[in-house]
Amino acid sequence: MSKQKTLYFCQNCGAQHAKMLGKCTTCNEWGTVVEEIIEKQETKLNWKTSNTKKKLPKAIKIEDISSEKEDRIPTNNKELDTVLGGGIVKGSVILLGGEPGIGKSTLILQIALQIPQKVLYVSGEESKNQIKMRAERLQKGKIPVNECLILTETKTQNIFKSIEETQPEIVVIDSIQTLHTDYIEASPGSISQIRETTAELIKFAKETGTPVLLIGHINKEGSIAGPKILEHMVDVVLQFEGDRNHTYRILRANKNRFGSTAELGIYEMLGNGLREIENPSEILISEKESDLTGTAIAATLEGIRPLMIEVQALVSTAVYGTPQRSATGYNIKRLNMILAVLEKKAGFRLGAKDVFLNIAGGIKIDDPAIDLAVVCAILSSNEDVAIPQNYCFSAEVGLAGEIRAVNKVDQRILEAEKLGFEQIFVSKYCKIPNKNYQIKIVKVAKIEEIYQLLF
Ligand code: TYD
Ligand code: MG
Repeated sequence: MSKQKTLYFCQNCGAQHAKMLGKCTTCNEWGTVVEEIIEKQETKLNWKTSNTKKKLPKAIKIEDISSEKEDRIPTNNKELDTVLGGGIVKGSVILLGGEPGIGKSTLILQIALQIPQKVLYVSGEESKNQIKMRAERLQKGKIPVNECLILTETKTQNIFKSIEETQPEIVVIDSIQTLHTDYIEASPGSISQIRETTAELIKFAKETGTPVLLIGHINKEGSIAGPKILEHMVDVVLQFEGDRNHTYRILRANKNRFGSTAELGIYEMLGNGLREIENPSEILISEKESDLTGTAIAATLEGIRPLMIEVQALVSTAVYGTPQRSATGYNIKRLNMILAVLEKKAGFRLGAKDVFLNIAGGIKIDDPAIDLAVVCAILSSNEDVAIPQNYCFSAEVGLAGEIRAVNKVDQRILEAEKLGFEQIFVSKYCKIPNKNYQIKIVKVAKIEEIYQLLF
């Protein structure tokens, strides 16, 4: 017998409460608990009282489990394959999150069109015509290599019926927030719907071995909308990010049960879809005149991929009482810290100056090795002295103004060498392998030293 029941869920952590609360008792967030109506179909069995006649799985020794390599489907998209660790694992559920308009649907449709397997693309967001128009834009006269079926449906029961009829090898859901199941009363996009529909899809994927790609929206804090549980449930969480006003997009794995999360994919959004970028360093460094001040190149490492990135700074006299600080693509707190270090250790009077910082290409960098380039770009703008174009930097700056070593310095040096840089500035404490580098390696220990060398 079905019975209507009201439950209260925390939007932040997904915890279930019996009554309305102002503050979630599980994650201690305020104002996140919402009411949801749930249709209960059957009473759940306690695990002890469950039917023992059914064949129960037995616990076995880990040595006795045969070690099969997971079966992977290559996507023909090199960047995505790298991020996934070599293709889509059979029976896995992959969640792709990203801001609206960043290109999630474009990326997935592009893959659906070029992968040799039969794909069922379920869209709850766009009409068949819209998808057709996008597919035409992406293909531009290319002959389709496979069968790609489009279904506009949001009810999971109907989706499973269609799956039974069409027998696809890969299922795409655009997006998980639009789905709903008959078993739950709550509206699509609510926590219990997301949780239930995802659970149904996971069950389907595990039982049939068909991989499922889910597209997920993200909320304004940047995490995937819905409970954190969603990220726990799926096998792989991918994040598609970038600045909408720039053409570059970065694909990262936040979680990957079948590979590392250190890999990174870079794309460029063009008129006919996303282009894979194999050599990102060449593009991220903008063409420039030789005597521009306020720019410095950093040799960073995103995951295991070396990237040469241009840092631009502008230092000008503050017109208002409080100087302005602004940073795009760089942590503003870290910028304030670096400015404080410069003020204290190198005697620069930056307290009366506005400082603007920008990472070229609209991408966001977390690697601390960019610090030294930030320092040099700020100093270059402040002194109005340009840094030679063929210099680059790779080191972290500490609170005492010391220049600290970064990991995998060898890879960074090799990348700089490959791109024709002549000098790289690193920390004195770096363990550099004894190799015959073409590039000149300059070791520095303090901010004062680099100031003496450059200005
Ligand atoms: P879309 O994939 O719809 O984003 P999401 O699903 O993440 O919301 O991408 C939308 C944007 O991408 C849109 O503003 C236009 C742009 N775009 C291109 O620049 N080139 C293309 O070939 C396509 C299909 C889209
Ligand atoms: Mg979309």
